[in-house]
Amino acid sequence: LSVNDRAILINAIRDIPDFPKPGIIFKDITTLLSDKEAFGVLMTHLHDRYVSYDLTHVAGIDARGFIFGSALAQMLGVGFVPIRKKGKLPYTTVSEKYSLEYGVDEVEIHIDAFSAVEKPRVLLIDDLIATGGTAYAAANLINKVGAECIEACFVMGLDFLSGQSKLRDIVEVYTVIGV
Ligand code: PRP
Ligand code: MG
Repeated sequence: LSVNDRAILINAIRDIPDFPKPGIIFKDITTLLSDKEAFGVLMTHLHDRYVSYDLTHVAGIDARGFIFGSALAQMLGVGFVPIRKKGKLPYTTVSEKYSLEYGVDEVEIHIDAFSAVEKPRVLLIDDLIATGGTAYAAANLINKVGAECIEACFVMGLDFLSGQSKLRDIVEVYTVIGV
């Protein structure tokens, strides 16, 4: 990513202080999505990085990972698989729990999500990695249903949290910009 393109992306992400609660600075990507230049810079960069990875699918994490993931899957000419919050997927699922600051949450994938291909090679994508709990559970789900998670990709990484290093124990990690 060039210095200029990095600046375009950083400038297109809006900081919302004290959302959803006091002390949190929310990284708002809606302003990046609605900016055709910035969205184009990002998606072209991701396409160029992953076009040679010989992927069969992109898996996106509910909900913002769906936006980038489905756009990228289409650009790469591969399938898209949603990893959803508990209770949203209609067919038989495999699930994985992960801890939040307070309590636990759970993500799910369809048991046959990758069964159409013999050796699924999957890119996991989300907008943001913070503690890494969501992505760790999602990468485990991909492996549980018999696919290989080739890399986990994030538009933004919170570099002051340790999430990325834990995730690196099980999968390669790439973040487009550190914030
Ligand atoms: C946010 C973000 C990531 C996750 C990162 O999603 O979009 O998915 O949190 O946090 P972690 O690394 O600490 O697990 P959120 O659960 O708020 O839901 P949303 O994408 O549906 O808005
Ligand atoms: Mg999310």
